[in-house]
Amino acid sequence: MQFGFDYLPYKWLEEIINLAAERIVVVDSNGLIRYINSGYCDFLGIKAEDAINQPVQNIIENSRMHIVAKSGQAELSAIQPIKGGEMIANRYPLFVEGELVGAVGTVLFRNQQEWWDYSKKIQPLLEELNYYKLNYENGLKSKYKFSDIIGTSSKFMLAKKMAEKISVSNSAVLLTGESGTGKELFAHAIHQNSSREQFPFVRINCASIPEHLLESELFGYDEGAFTGAKKGGKRGKFELANFGTIFLDEIGDMPLSMQSKLLRVLQEGEVERVGGQKPKTIDVRIIAATHRNLEKMIEEGTFRQDLYYRLNVIKLEIPPLRERKEDIPYIATYLLKKLEKKFHQHGINLTNRVISKLQQHNWPGNIRELENVLERAVNVLEGNTIDIVHLPLYLRENVHFLSEKQKVYVDYNNHSDSFPTLKETLSLVEKQAIINALQLSNGNKLEASKLLGIGKTSLYDKCKQYNIK
Ligand SMILES: Nc1ncnc2c1ncn2[C@@H]1O[C@H](COP(=O)(O)OP(=O)(O)OP(=O)(O)O)[C@@H](O)[C@H]1O
Ligand SMILES: [Mg+2]
Repeated sequence: MQFGFDYLPYKWLEEIINLAAERIVVVDSNGLIRYINSGYCDFLGIKAEDAINQPVQNIIENSRMHIVAKSGQAELSAIQPIKGGEMIANRYPLFVEGELVGAVGTVLFRNQQEWWDYSKKIQPLLEELNYYKLNYENGLKSKYKFSDIIGTSSKFMLAKKMAEKISVSNSAVLLTGESGTGKELFAHAIHQNSSREQFPFVRINCASIPEHLLESELFGYDEGAFTGAKKGGKRGKFELANFGTIFLDEIGDMPLSMQSKLLRVLQEGEVERVGGQKPKTIDVRIIAATHRNLEKMIEEGTFRQDLYYRLNVIKLEIPPLRERKEDIPYIATYLLKKLEKKFHQHGINLTNRVISKLQQHNWPGNIRELENVLERAVNVLEGNTIDIVHLPLYLRENVHFLSEKQKVYVDYNNHSDSFPTLKETLSLVEKQAIINALQLSNGNKLEASKLLGIGKTSLYDKCKQYNIK
């Protein structure tokens, strides 16, 4: 047995409904009014008995209740013009035991005053929303100028001078270079130095957008293009970037299917929204960047050659940090200034020993890696001077990641001995790292554990395990 409304007197039920929704109307599947409460009747200036069994559209202006009773699709927070004002209506299909039997509708605002009182409350929220929207549009600005790109080595100056020179052109630019070399910085600076500067700079990371969203992100979509499509549709990044620059970052990670669509835009200069009727002409400058080897990808068939030619009108290759080590002191000083702001500190400096250590390193992660090394140093720093102890272990010592046993095997080709397992090698490296940390901290276990980024107890356990005294 179900305990539903069986125990409620009818009059109670009616009052409960009136309390729950001040204005409520129920229609059957033919759109005939089966119930309308007194609040709704008062609002419309009618009597309930004149409304019952009448087609809802004859009684309530602009009603769509008869449609919802047929479609089974709820319409929530819909604007409904009634009696010269705009009311907010919720319309729900009414399913009983799985069968669509009609629809229930409620109206949120009865008169202009009510709406006005309410809108006074939401007005500040709308203003806030507009403020963020505006900021979002402002967010479509380039953040770096050429003066933010540090480096005076001849190799680097060549790339920077070239970038400055071509920034005024409208041709597509392809930025290549290892990870962390500053490709994004260059893209911003090129836009900032161009006549498009007043227009948006729109960055799109081709690697991080799910493939099925890439098309709608780039080209936008029209209302009703797919389920869940926003009302009024959505502008794509190309439309947003009109008259400005679009920065296609990590272009080497763009799926092949999208590459052809992108090519069409570049060739025709127009975009077509997903589900859209007519293409729209756009004027954007393309800057693409990748750390991948596109020529190799073309050979492998993972990057379209025709697209490559379109993007590669002006190619700028940014040299890796290891090929311009003379820039390291200047870049490090510049990065430290940025870190000082972040950490609310000033006067941080580097010892000469640190600078030469930094210049000995190969920097596979380039400037991003240098940034991380310095940030780590500032974190462990007590005082103002960054010294060798503040550098990560892999920079401080030339730790040999090949264990002795591995070296014997490799150096002498002494294959009679068994090659050490990965576990054995890792243990040896771990042991060596602990010994190095303890040496640097003069045997102070707490400091050594901080250097290693592990807890003190964990260090004690490992010392015991490796028999380190
Ligand atoms: N010449 C430079 N002067 C100052 N800072 C730089 C310089 N080059 C790069 N940086 C800084 O190094 C970091 C990495 O740069 P960026 O993001 O532009 O690298 P990227 O080439 O786009 O790398 P990835 O291929 O991994 O995306 C950024 O924080 C950037 O500000
Ligand atoms: Mg990048």
